[in-house]
Amino acid sequence: MTGFESFVSEALAKQGNSNLLRVSNEFEQVSATKLVFDGKSYINFSSNDYLGLATDFDITEFTKWISDGQSLAKPAVSSGAMASPLVTGNSQHHKQLINDLLKAIDAPSSFSGILFGSGFSANQGVLNALFKDKSKEQFVYQDKLNHASLLDAGTKLQAAGHLVQKRFKHNDVKHLSQLIKPDPSLNQLVVTESVFSMDGDKSPIKDLSALARQVGSLFMVDDAHGFGLSALAKGVTDIDLNDVDIYLVTFGKALGAQGAALFARRSIIDFLTNFSKEYIYSTHLSPIQCETVRFNLSKLVAAKSEQFSEQGLEGNEQIKPKSCCLQLANNIAYFRKIATENDLPLLPSDTAIQPIMIGDAQTTIEVANDLKARGFWVSAIRPPTVKKGQSRLRVTIASKHTLSEINELVVVLNSALQKRLLNLGLENSIKRTSETVSLNHE
Ligand SMILES: Cc1ncc(COP(=O)(O)O)c(C=O)c1O
Repeated sequence: MTGFESFVSEALAKQGNSNLLRVSNEFEQVSATKLVFDGKSYINFSSNDYLGLATDFDITEFTKWISDGQSLAKPAVSSGAMASPLVTGNSQHHKQLINDLLKAIDAPSSFSGILFGSGFSANQGVLNALFKDKSKEQFVYQDKLNHASLLDAGTKLQAAGHLVQKRFKHNDVKHLSQLIKPDPSLNQLVVTESVFSMDGDKSPIKDLSALARQVGSLFMVDDAHGFGLSALAKGVTDIDLNDVDIYLVTFGKALGAQGAALFARRSIIDFLTNFSKEYIYSTHLSPIQCETVRFNLSKLVAAKSEQFSEQGLEGNEQIKPKSCCLQLANNIAYFRKIATENDLPLLPSDTAIQPIMIGDAQTTIEVANDLKARGFWVSAIRPPTVKKGQSRLRVTIASKHTLSEINELVVVLNSALQKRLLNLGLENSIKRTSETVSLNHE
């Protein structure tokens, strides 16, 4: 065996022995709430199509939208950008998408935007560019639970001697204040997610922003799992962008498409245009994809404005579940209510991401398999995605789930957990509490 042959087979064997082996399933059909695999139908509680925009995408309606002139794609929209953005890949489609998004997020007038092929490359692109030089003392401060694209960039830049990366305790502004340097002359960046992808809880954006501003640090928010979802926000984000220096929207979640955009003051966007290798040396997002995102965004914006004009009120007390955002909020509240009544081990999340804490990887897989046998598809999340001992099922709630699907999920979850515990004689190993579970993220 060559060096790599034994490295590869040992790594795979190790994954298998630790119940951590991943496979990429090929589904016959997938929507926000249903999927078909190997000829069998499942209720899908693993999709990030939170608002059903990908599920509802209708190619005939899209084509009509284009030909009716609601897009810039006249007379035709090409399938590919045909070049990287600084060559000939950038177009009116890209510019219009950025403008639509700037309006939808109610960005300060000083803001401009830049598109990337994915959120992963946008996150790496920001960090790699901002910290490209080794010449100054520079620091990145990341929430411990930030996405792999952010943490991985910081770790590699640190190893290469470009920066010092400090990971503050999850959502702990006080801990960050102990780490960050009160010296505006340093290059410092604080980065958080708005809604954490594996825990579903929200970050204290106002407080993190105030601290970053106080010490002269830049503040970046990755809004991959928050964008579009707030039932109470009038616009598509409930983040005040005056609090944020660099703001990431990904198109693969609520927008039901693919790609990402970063928004920041024009000087930062100009800087990324000049120095982000992920932007410069990659074929630009395709025009058809830009138009797809614009199409779905227009639906989201219309749903929001209908929601507020029809209800005519700001609070949520009397709002009927009409728009997709309100329907989602209703479904989340309903899931949490019945899951709490059934004593399921929830985390303190009021977002579409509702993890069920289990603990060890093997039990998590077994519970997920029990659910599959009963027709429910819920992802098992294991290390290294989460810390060892914190494996979980990641239930994602969508606006399109019916209350009876949610009800049935809780019933099967409850009995699958019960069965595992009885089989293992470990009634107390999974925390079952009517209070939400609190995790030690130190
Ligand atoms: C918080 C967060 N940021 C960034 C990304 C990467 O975005 P994309 O899927 O567009 O690469 C993800 C995707 O899972 C994510 O959850």
